[in-house]
Order: sequence, then structure tokens, then C-alpha cells
Amino acid sequence: MSVTEQPPPPPATGPDGDAAAEQLRDRISADSLTTRRDYLRIVATVSGGLAVGGVGVAAGILHRHGDSDTLPPPKKVTGRLAPGQSVAFRYPGDEDQALAVRLSDGTLVGYSAVCTHLACAVLWREDRGVDGELYCPCHEGVFDVRTGEVTAGPPPRPLPVVFLTEQADGSVWAIATARSGESAKEALCRQFGDSHPEPAGRLGCPGADRARSNESGRT
Ligand code: FES
Repeated sequence: MSVTEQPPPPPATGPDGDAAAEQLRDRISADSLTTRRDYLRIVATVSGGLAVGGVGVAAGILHRHGDSDTLPPPKKVTGRLAPGQSVAFRYPGDEDQALAVRLSDGTLVGYSAVCTHLACAVLWREDRGVDGELYCPCHEGVFDVRTGEVTAGPPPRPLPVVFLTEQADGSVWAIATARSGESAKEALCRQFGDSHPEPAGRLGCPGADRARSNESGRT
């Protein structure tokens, strides 16, 4: 199936949404990020560095995907994503184009759909190789669908990852983002910061023990 456009799902808000958010954050922190299998299960999308955008970002004109230092609220991407399917969505902001793909072996991946060259929209071409490829039609840029790494063309950086998780009911949620080339642990530790000391501690984030001490001192 080719890339499917669908309207962005409603965000999880309100008391139930907050609880779901906390649950999802706990879940990703509880997952081991030390194995490739777990990484790919959690993983995700990306958005990109921009050439024109690089100037714009430097000038503070354009928003850069994955740039937040705090965790964005989790967002439901779709109710179900079968092998061989992809879905376009917006995350973390309404302007941030992203893409989720379920590969034939069941692996779920997500990336920013903004090419790191000149910010054209990236698509998944299913019929290229075993897993297909992420393709930018503007200048023939190609990214590895399992990693987001550049495999051909002018894009200067990998696609930023969007972290996805799947709930028991089969729904797929976006839960965090990484900057281009940033590891899962680096991205989550940066965004957990001092505000989520428990999951940060379970991930082994630098400074987590201090944050937990401060937290327990306040209770
Ligand atoms: Fe994607 Fe140029 S904008 S390859």
C-alpha cells in the first residue's frame, strides 16, 4: 500500500489523556533501549535539517522538528497499522509532517517526513528492496527506512526519528522525537530533563539521581 494521507487524529487531552501520557512515558522508559530490537519496536520518525531551512532555523524563522527540550504530549497516530502499510501524520506540532511505516516483518518505524536537504516531503516507496525506502522526489534523496540514514542523493543528514509505540488494542502512538542523528537515549534523557526523574533514572540519564533526590526531598 502506498503512503496514506489521513487527517491528524485528535490529541489525547484531559485527565484521561494525561494518564495515558504518563503511562506511555513510563512504558518507554521501562523498555530497554539497549537492544536493536527494542529500539526498533519503540522507534520512530524524524524530521529534518533544512538547507534553506538551515538558514531559516539559524535565523529563528523556521521551526525545526524535534527541537523541543521537553516531552511533547503523546498523540494517537492511527488505530491500527498492518505490515506493508504507512500513514502520514503530524507530530509533535500541527506543522510537523511525519510518517509511520509498518515493515513486512512487523517492525514499526517513524520519521519526520521533511527532507533534510531542502524540506520537501518524504514518501515511503514500498516496492524498493525488501523494506522499501524513504524517498524524496525533489532531488532523488533516499533514506534507509529502518534507520533514517541517507543512502543516496543530496540530503546531508539522517531523518529525525519519531518514537512510536503500540498499545494492546493495536493503536499506534507517537510519544517523543529525536533530533537528526541523536540516539534514543540521548533524545529521551534530554526531554525527560528534571521533570520526569523516575523514568530518567531507569534510563540511566545523567543527572537523574540528583533530580530524584530533589524530588524526594520535596515530598
Ligand atoms: Fe529532498 Fe532535495 S529536498 S533531496
